[in-house]
Parts: sequence; structure tokens; C-alpha cells
Amino acid sequence: MPRQPTDTPAPSQAPPPPAHQMWGGRFTLGPNEALDALNRSLPVDHRLWPQDVAASKAWVHALGRVGVLTPNEEHQLLEGLDRVGERLADGAAVGAPDEDVHTLVERLLFAEVGAVAGKLHTGRSRNDQVATDLRLWTLGAIDQLDRDLAALGRALVARAEEGVDVLLPGYTHGQRAQPVRWAYVLLAHAWPLVRDRQRLADARRRVAELPLGSGALAGSGFAVDRVLLKEALGFRSVSANALDATGDRDFVAEVLFALTLVGTHLSRLAAELVLYTSAEFGFVRLSDDFSTGSSLLPHKRNPDIFELARAKSGRLLGDLVALLTTLKGLPAGYSKDLQEDKALLFDGFDTLALVLPAATGAITALSVDAERMRAALDASLRATDLADLLVEAGVPFRESHGLVGRLVREAERSGVPLDRVPGPVAAGIHPALAAALSQLGTWEDSVESRRGLATLGGRAARGAAPCIRSGWRDLTQGLAAR
Ligand code: ARG
Repeated sequence: MPRQPTDTPAPSQAPPPPAHQMWGGRFTLGPNEALDALNRSLPVDHRLWPQDVAASKAWVHALGRVGVLTPNEEHQLLEGLDRVGERLADGAAVGAPDEDVHTLVERLLFAEVGAVAGKLHTGRSRNDQVATDLRLWTLGAIDQLDRDLAALGRALVARAEEGVDVLLPGYTHGQRAQPVRWAYVLLAHAWPLVRDRQRLADARRRVAELPLGSGALAGSGFAVDRVLLKEALGFRSVSANALDATGDRDFVAEVLFALTLVGTHLSRLAAELVLYTSAEFGFVRLSDDFSTGSSLLPHKRNPDIFELARAKSGRLLGDLVALLTTLKGLPAGYSKDLQEDKALLFDGFDTLALVLPAATGAITALSVDAERMRAALDASLRATDLADLLVEAGVPFRESHGLVGRLVREAERSGVPLDRVPGPVAAGIHPALAAALSQLGTWEDSVESRRGLATLGGRAARGAAPCIRSGWRDLTQGLAAR
């Protein structure tokens, strides 16, 4: 049965609590300065104000529907919260003395509407409030990150499309292994971003679970319609257990893991590009506007962009480890330890918001030295092709591997490239080897002959099978704007 609401008594009858305090009635002394300095989270959580205002407005509606607020009070609070939002947008949080963002919003609401502000917190706790605000904030942050990831992925694909005909050595263990296309290398860094976007989308579903209505731990004392709250705030589902919902930060851990893996992917891309910008490789050159100089060495063109991208992955991992370490000893429900989650989560998103646009810009603008890349192809990279040709001549692969190994040894001993070992010498190792040497064909033939190209998509493989084109489709769809 809805309660019979009564309008708020005049302030003289019920003075509002001290300006920026939500608790304290049971103490004779206010908090010690040292405690206050430790306890205050406003310097970190002030950025949740848009979510706090939105969730408070939804809560006002919900309280109105169960008769805790009169229509007039509901109207006053909604208007007041809008004005609070305007004041916060104008910078009212800067230098504010409050304990946290929730206290700040409530204080400003008192200033706007007077004593009726004291009804807003009915049936609600900062425990369900902060979990709601942070989830709401995370949903928006994931969407922005997703856009930045897609932009980097598309930049890699765009560069790959120009790099289909550029060949270079592919490396394993840092050693030249087989010839590949530059496009192929770039796409090997684009695919992880597709998976990152999938992982974030999956985590996002679990972030979008509404804790509001959980109270401090045992549910709200008022029968608010949580499904309506969910709809109003754009959540997908409502949490089932209030004790769990107020203490659950799995979503922070899960999202921080997804961010850490993004950071790891960027770090690997960066490590490869730092190597390729060195004079020893000289495969790529950063544009002037994405290069940095040295204060001492006038000639330097430093790849700080990629060194920092590489380093930031350590910081992201630190955020994840700090969060998990904070969570692991906690009983169910809210403990103040959980206040530490926000600095870590914000840092993760802020870090990637810095790195991703810079990496995208640098990749879009870097120039490629196709001749240097091609010049790094040496004949030893044909060894596997020779072994495969022997297999076609009926030699078991294990044997052909050993035979080509002997040919490599012979080439090294006599100081000639692998494909220039004289026919009779090759035939002396195995009769089919001389024929295999003469069938080697071009670097392009070598690259075309291997199925690994499938992942390059329709562009690379002329007359490619549909399954190859579907790889390309998956990649471009995986990087499309949402
Ligand atoms: N500032 C707090 C946080 O970020 C809000 C919740 C405080 N709850 C409490 N029971 N003291 O976690």
C-alpha cells in the first residue's frame, strides 16, 4: 500500500543537517582533520556528478510513485536537481569541501530547495548509490573506449590496404622466418582489437545491472519499482541480492582486465614499431608531428609515442592488480575499502584515452620504406619453400627439413645465398633438391603459396575462396562503428 505522503514541514520545525554532513548525529566531535583528509573521496569521485544527479532524479520519481513524496515535492526535487546539475556543470565541485560527490549533490540540493532535499535519501544508501553511479559512468566510458579502439583498428586496416604489395621478413624469436606482406603484419595487430571490442561488449552486459534499491545492504525500506528505475537509467537488468550488489566490484575488475589487455596489445604493437623505426631496420619513419627530439642529440627522431604506449601497459596492469588485491580480503557487502576502486578505474580509462588517439594518429601518418623492407628478405627465407617443394616430390617432410638444413649449411660454408648453391652441389645432397631450387619462383610466389594470407582477406588472395573473404568481412565488421 502506498504511504500517504505529507509535505515537508517548514525549516524552523526541522532544521537541515549541518551543511555537508550526511552522518554524525551520534558523535559529539566532528571528524579529525587527518581522518577527514583520508576519508574524503570528492577529489576523485567528483566526476560522477552527472550520474549522481541522473540516478537521484530517477530515485525521486520512484519515491513519488510509492507515495514517499507528494507530487509537489517530487516536482521541487526534480527542478532542484536540474539546477544542481547546472551549477556542477559550471564548476561547483571545484574546491568544494564535501566528503564525496553524493554529499556534494545533496548539499547543493539543500541550497536550491531547502528542507525537502532531506527527503531525497529516503530508502537509499550511499552504498547502492555509489555502485549505481559508477556502473552508469562505466557504461559511458566503455562506449568511448570502444570508439577509440575501432578508430585505431580502422587506421591499421587502412594502412594494410596500402601495404598489400609490400613484402618484408616475418619474424619469430626476433629472427627472420618467412616472407610476409606488410599488410599481414599490420592486421596481426588489428585482430586483437576486434577481440578487445568483443570482450568489452561482453563485460558491458554485466556492468549494466542496476544496484539501486539495495539500500545499505538489506534492501530498501520502501517498495520502489526497480524495473522502472532500470528502464529510466538505461540498465539491462536489476541485481538480485542487495548484500552482493552493494559489495560487488566484479565489474570494475573485469573491465580493468579488458583495459589491461588493450594496453598489452598496444604495447606489443608499439614494441614492434619502435624496433622498425630504428636505423638498423629503417622499415618505418614517424611523421614529424608524431616524433620527439633529444635535448642533447640534435639528429634524434625519437618514437616516444610508442615507448609511452608500451609503458602504459604496466600502469594498467598495476590498476588491475591493485583492485584485485583490494577486493580479495573483503566480506560480502560494502566496506570502505571499495572507495579505492574509482581512482583505479578512472586511471585505466584515462590512460587509454590518452594513448589510443596518439597511436592512431602516429600510425596514420607514419611512412613505410618498402625498399628497406624488401632488402631485408634474404634467400635463407626460402628454406621452408624448398622443404615444401621436396615434399611435393614425395620426400617426407621430416626428411626434407634435414636435407634443406644441409643445403643451408653448404650455402653458409661456401658463402653463397641459399638459392645460388650450384645445382650439382644441391643434387649431391638429394636428387630432387636441384629441381626444387629451379622451381623457387619469386618472393610474391612464396607469399601467395601460403594459406596464412587468408587473414589478409579478399584483397591479398587473388581468386580467394569464400572462407578467405569471410575473414576479411569479420575483420572489417569487427572494427565498424557501432
Ligand atoms: N564515497 C564512498 C565510496 O566511494 C561512498 C559510499 C560511502 N558509504 C558509506 N557507507 N560510508 O565508496
